Amino acid sequence: MTLRLDVALNERSYPIFIGQGLLDRPECWIDTIRSNQVMIVTNTTVAPLYLERIRLALTGKQIATVILPDGEQFKNLDTLDQIFTGLLQSRHNRTTTLVALGGGVIGDMTGFAAACYQRGVDFVQIPTTLLAQVDSSVGGKTGVNHPLGKNMIGAFHQPRCVIIDTDTLNTLADNQLAAGLAEVIKYGLILDLNFLQWIEANLDSLQARNPAILAEAIRRCCEIKAQVVSEDETEQGKRALLNLGHTFGHAIETYSGYGSWLHGEAVAVGTLLAADLSQRSGWLEKSDIERIKRLFLRAQLPLTPPPAMTSADFMRLMAVDKKVLDGQLRLILLRQLGDALVTEQFSTTALAATLDAAILDATALATQALDT
Ligand code: NAD
Ligand code: GLY
Repeated sequence: MTLRLDVALNERSYPIFIGQGLLDRPECWIDTIRSNQVMIVTNTTVAPLYLERIRLALTGKQIATVILPDGEQFKNLDTLDQIFTGLLQSRHNRTTTLVALGGGVIGDMTGFAAACYQRGVDFVQIPTTLLAQVDSSVGGKTGVNHPLGKNMIGAFHQPRCVIIDTDTLNTLADNQLAAGLAEVIKYGLILDLNFLQWIEANLDSLQARNPAILAEAIRRCCEIKAQVVSEDETEQGKRALLNLGHTFGHAIETYSGYGSWLHGEAVAVGTLLAADLSQRSGWLEKSDIERIKRLFLRAQLPLTPPPAMTSADFMRLMAVDKKVLDGQLRLILLRQLGDALVTEQFSTTALAATLDAAILDATALATQALDT
């Protein structure tokens, strides 16, 4: 069965198709590709797994391919240039379509290349990680990292469609599945307490990759994301809620060197920091924090930041977050589980206490690991 959701954005509206075996069923989605020229962008890990099937699905079109090195450390302007070179070498014109085949790194870079090439061409997303299927492939945020800040160079550019073949998750490594679960849990925490309860009840099945349960989680995440993006495409307000834990998480990723921490892992720790600050700000209960911790622990996600990272490191790196306005840091906090807000109304003393407590926990954990 194929499920269809729609991101409603007037003339930039597009469908999200979710189903098993969609890579081999182009009849569901091929009409969303308007051009004869297509450029498939993928990486060295995903190409041997899925490239031939996409090439077959696109039979009849003029197909070119760019295979990028794999890893967050390659999500930068240098690697982006390989896409532009491939497009120019194959004489692709402004009616071409770029096809992003891979995880969030490939999706973000391909989308950004599509936003820039000849001032904007079509692209479609074929996300193959859980994280990309529930989050990054939907909503049109595209871009690359800079050594001084994560995702700091980019554009809003919506895809023509998103094709989610849930079978592709069968080849995903366990830690990558866990990273995706961090974003799934995020949706429950920010906007949907019922969904959070559903995740708690179904986490074992999600980890066992039960296809029906995975498809249901992906459906609900895409539904929430499509709704938020339709209301606030360029993040003037509500869309920022989707960044729960990301300000702290991006600081961890930049500090550690891109690729050392998975994005979802950093988001999990960042979410716990945001939850801790929410509790110190008088919103969440201590029992709520314990509940979130239990869920992340079950999902095999980290709970503490890198042990050597200091509060000063966090503050320095968070100062370049995209949510900073006029030098004022804004964070996504939780009023209660299932109800998030964007705010600058937190005390700097409370933020310092949150960071100090997490760093103490990280140091204790590192010492414990050395002793055993
Ligand atoms: P990723 O793209 O690095 O993929 C993770 C790993 O899995 C890679 O090694 C990849 O090659 C491999 N892989 C992909 N599909 C596979 C499959 N089916 N089987 C086996 N291996 C597979 O990481 P990710 O977690 O997908 O995405 C993280 C990126 O997404 C970050 O750069 C983050 O900033 C970005 N992101 C963007 C948005 C957005 O709205 N644009 C939202 C969230 C995250
Ligand atoms: N991943 C956050 C957003 O798309 O806004």
